[in-house]
Amino acid sequence: MALHILTICYLIASVTFILGLKMLSHPESARRGNLVAAAGMTIGIFGTIFLFEQEVAGRPAHLNNTVLIFVALTIGAILGFISAKKIKMTAMPEMVSLFNGMGGACAMLISIIEFNHYLHTAIRPVGNLIFLTEELTTVSIIAIVAGLVIGSISFAGSIVAWGKLRGIVGDTTFKGQRNLNMFFLLVLAAAVVTFIIKTPVTSDELSGVSLPGGAVAQSSWAITSFHIYLFYGILALSLLYGVLFVLPIGGADMPVVISLLNSFTGVAAACAGFMYNNQAMLTGGILVGAAGTLLTILMCKAMNRSLLNVIVGSWGETAAAAGATSNEQGAIKEISLSDASMVMSYATKVLIVPGYGLAVAQAQHICHELEKILEEKGVEVKYAIHPVAGRMPGHMNVLLAEADVSYEKLLEMEDANDEFKTTDVVLVLGANDVVNPAAKNDPESPIYGMPILEVQQAKTVIVNKRSMKPGYAGIENDLFFQPKTAMLFGDAKKVLQNLCAEIKAG
Ligand code: TAP
Repeated sequence: MALHILTICYLIASVTFILGLKMLSHPESARRGNLVAAAGMTIGIFGTIFLFEQEVAGRPAHLNNTVLIFVALTIGAILGFISAKKIKMTAMPEMVSLFNGMGGACAMLISIIEFNHYLHTAIRPVGNLIFLTEELTTVSIIAIVAGLVIGSISFAGSIVAWGKLRGIVGDTTFKGQRNLNMFFLLVLAAAVVTFIIKTPVTSDELSGVSLPGGAVAQSSWAITSFHIYLFYGILALSLLYGVLFVLPIGGADMPVVISLLNSFTGVAAACAGFMYNNQAMLTGGILVGAAGTLLTILMCKAMNRSLLNVIVGSWGETAAAAGATSNEQGAIKEISLSDASMVMSYATKVLIVPGYGLAVAQAQHICHELEKILEEKGVEVKYAIHPVAGRMPGHMNVLLAEADVSYEKLLEMEDANDEFKTTDVVLVLGANDVVNPAAKNDPESPIYGMPILEVQQAKTVIVNKRSMKPGYAGIENDLFFQPKTAMLFGDAKKVLQNLCAEIKAG
């Protein structure tokens, strides 16, 4: 009976994960989607805790430590709740990276625990051969090793990524780094294959085994002490590879790496689900793996970079080199608040380009206010959204949704680029790299090839930022020096407040 209820719990959990993911694809339903999936996860967790033990009463090794589980659940829930409440939207990628690392660590620990679980039931009667009394099929051992390798790489890589985003770990590149990474990867692959290949056991060896208590030796997978050392060698190599893999990657490639590591964690979790025959964990892992992979591909497309280029390229070097040769663009033109408010009030169409600076200033509400004031004056106002504006996928959509900006007003990059030609004023709010024409015109630029919002096609471009400092990629922006562009310096929130006041008064 308990078995049936547990299966239903897993089914409900799996369905909620799929529904939740679907709902996450639209800002209006995203919050509910998150809650739906979290409710399914809660059902899955409590179903496992309370029903799994009865189902396998013959194997008390599982879930005989409910008190410990609840202590860990409580600590984890409190820490998760506090950090989610305290985290600033702009620091979200750090948190995603850290949480992803925890997922990878879980998959890694599950593999270690499962391997030891088999060893504890093993009998070692002949020479250095170890016979398992529980059948360990090749598929199970592949799931254990895959969970170990992928989980460890994801854990170590995500922690390094978190350190980089926090600014505690710098981009580290040295000569021969790619070759060293490739060497470690090959050694790791060789170790995994050696581990998985079964140690042949002859029927003579088997017949010579007398097992206590009438236990039956399983011949399908006998191991030697060497395999045990190899298992922990694979663990160490995977952790090391995770660190080396992420260390040289930096700049605008970080979100791609985080998304890739996220998909790794999904696959590692799916392996763990397979080991425990836990359908909810399996479905959840596959969904995370698939969604992470799709997101990685989409982000690479948005930046016009191949995944291989992200993994083996080194952004830091090129960015530094490009920074050294820039700074020769000439003079910039400033615009006063009253002139800016006048230009916008008399425009027919205004397109707003939000960027990371808008999120830093938390100016989304006042930005929505400006939109309403302009619309009252008969101006058509829309937003042009670049897929990697801000610091996480969908950052601008989330930010503007927070301020109740209608989703209908958000134009995707391709549509926005079609509309700039017929736009009177583009107001760039704290965006920089995503409007940098160097991505189109300068083959030497590190962001060359990344599709951008082509704001210079509009009649007038007003750029709001606090100074002439570069954006995330660390490079100069020629847009600021073009004749159509006027700079409106200041914190986005203050500037927008003043603009609203001017337009209302005008
Ligand atoms: P950025 O190129 O980073 O430029 C943001 C600009 O905002 C800066 O130049 C800064 O100039 C200005 N700013 C900062 N605080 C401000 C404030 N309070 N008021 C007004 N302006 C302010 O941003 P972007 O154009 O959104 O491009 C995003 C970049 O981040 C891309 O290179 C992208 O690849 C990368 N990235 C994206 C993601 C994802 S997935 N979205 C994740 C990580 C990295 P001042 O300092 O002069 O004010």
